Amino acid sequence: MKSTMTMTDNTTGKSYEFEIKDATRGPSVVDISSFYAQTGMFTFDNGYTSTASCVSDITFIDGAKGELRYRGKPIEELAKNHTYLETCYLLLNSKLPNKEELNAFDLELRHRSFLHEGLKNLFLTFPSGGHPMAALSAATATLSTFFYSHLNINDENEYQEMARRIVAKMPTIAAFAYRHSIGASFIQPDITKSFTENFLYMLRAYPNGHMHIDPEGERVIKPIEVEALDTIFTLHADHEQNASTSIVRGVASTGAHPYVAISSGISALWGRAHGGANESVIKQLEMIGSVDRVDEFIARAKDPKDEFRLMGFGHRVYKNFDPRAKILKGLQDKLKDELNLDSNLMQIANKIEEIALSDEYFISRKLYPNIDFYSGVILTALQIPKTMFTPIFVIGRTVGWITQWIEFKKDKTTKIARPRQLYLGK
Ligand code: ACO
Repeated sequence: MKSTMTMTDNTTGKSYEFEIKDATRGPSVVDISSFYAQTGMFTFDNGYTSTASCVSDITFIDGAKGELRYRGKPIEELAKNHTYLETCYLLLNSKLPNKEELNAFDLELRHRSFLHEGLKNLFLTFPSGGHPMAALSAATATLSTFFYSHLNINDENEYQEMARRIVAKMPTIAAFAYRHSIGASFIQPDITKSFTENFLYMLRAYPNGHMHIDPEGERVIKPIEVEALDTIFTLHADHEQNASTSIVRGVASTGAHPYVAISSGISALWGRAHGGANESVIKQLEMIGSVDRVDEFIARAKDPKDEFRLMGFGHRVYKNFDPRAKILKGLQDKLKDELNLDSNLMQIANKIEEIALSDEYFISRKLYPNIDFYSGVILTALQIPKTMFTPIFVIGRTVGWITQWIEFKKDKTTKIARPRQLYLGK
């Protein structure tokens, strides 16, 4: 027997029945797609706090327990035992790769990491000093003009090729956007390097491709730096129906090119309530400047008349802890002895965390440190410039966006995303 929910309109006394659909994990949903047809009214859910917008089997979050899984695999297991590329393969293919599959996937991504020469001209049109996120969004949309004819909307192999191409090219797009923003020449990908090492190389190398020389000889990219950044990419790979992913699906619903949909996701991610928080956190820690000023800013965060918010705190879904933040905190501790972590920033961050976790304001609102609270200190230690923090998020999340795009396209029951409104105008 079908489970249903009955709703009664107290003004007319009429009752309506809606089907309840069970999830394999997490809350069931009440299917209200016939609500308007039955009642002549819309439902209202500002910010979609109670709305499931799609059916998905990619990523699962239990916000109360602080649990995150990609294709059923816990994030802790993926971060500990698997690389970012294995995670990408898992998201795209619903299974972890065997050795041969991983080698083929890795090799293909290395070969696809180059950009069309024509796309390079686009970066040159941007004023230097502009934020790389804007260039990233523009370049990703522009990529659709180079690969339009390759897209057969009914062929999954083509979707998968589209996916591998954008995952492979995003680090190069991000590195080019950054190098142009500081007036440095572009560094081509080095296919002898892994996905993550190659990105650090494209950011750091001199125009002739050489790395910085220090008194001990040529400085290589340290394996621990690659490992840390790879973990950061894994932790950002997907996150269910967050703001930017919902935008990607929304654009997909109109039939637009996948790279344009991802470009829209990049724009949505830039905001400081979303991915832009990682850059804002570090700026905020620098603005606070010393441990003895923390109390002053905590008081401001609690003042309802002050718009100041503690960046890196709070999450729409996690109401216990953010499991990604926990992994990053562990990584931060591990890196402390091996890399040059800014001890002043860490002390300020630790003090904020300590106060916030014991303060009634934060406890009652279930405000815990999120992933962005810890990523900034680690990225700074990896010599990543602040403006590149959110582009790093983009690199990690691109696979999630394109996986969600594919799922959307394969689901023949999906409709154009077209909400309604409560009209209060003239
Ligand atoms: N500092 C101080 N107070 C906060 C904070 C914060 N960071 N976040 C939420 N609150 C308060 C709100 O003022 C509100 O208080 P009230 O009930 O007295 O009015 C209450 O907590 C609930 O906040 P909402 O904004 O309604 O919560 P929502 O779920 O809509 O927002 C969000 C979540 C956007 C993440 C919010 O917590 C925030 O702005 N955090 C700071 C930015 C940030 O770190 N973003 C990254 C999110 S993770 C990611 O996207 C990768």
